[in-house]
Amino acid sequence: MTLKRFSRRKFLQLLATGIGVSLVYFWDKMMENALLVASRKKIVFPLTRKIVSFYRDYLVINQNHNIKVLSSHCTHLGCIINKEENGKLICPCHGSEFDLKGNAVKGPAYKPLHSYPFKEDNNDRRIIVQPTSS
Ligand code: FES
Repeated sequence: MTLKRFSRRKFLQLLATGIGVSLVYFWDKMMENALLVASRKKIVFPLTRKIVSFYRDYLVINQNHNIKVLSSHCTHLGCIINKEENGKLICPCHGSEFDLKGNAVKGPAYKPLHSYPFKEDNNDRRIIVQPTSS
C-alpha cells in the first residue's frame, strides 16, 4: 500500500515536473518567435479612395494619389489621432493639429508626425509598410 502510494506520488511529481519544463520551453520559443515576427512584420493596408484612412497606429493619406503613411501617434504626448477636419488631422487630447503631410500646424505638438516608407502594390491596390524603429 505504501509502495503504491509512493509510486503514484512520485509519478505525479515527475509528470508535473515534465509539464512545467515543457511549458517553460514552449513559452520561451513562443516569445522568441513573437519578437522576431513583430520586428519583421510587414503591415498591409488596402488602398482606398478616402483622403484619410485611420488604422490604429497608422494614417494612410491619399491626396490625388499622392500617398503618405504617417504614425497616428501625436508627437505631443502620443495620443492617437482619429479625426480629420478641413484638411487637418486633429489630436483629441490637447487639440494639436497637423496638415496632411504630417507637419504640426497648431500646438502644443511642434514636431511632425513620423512618416513611414512604404511600397505600393497597384495590382492588388494595397500599401505595404515595413515599420522601422523610431
Ligand atoms: S497628445 Fe496630442 S495634443 Fe497632446
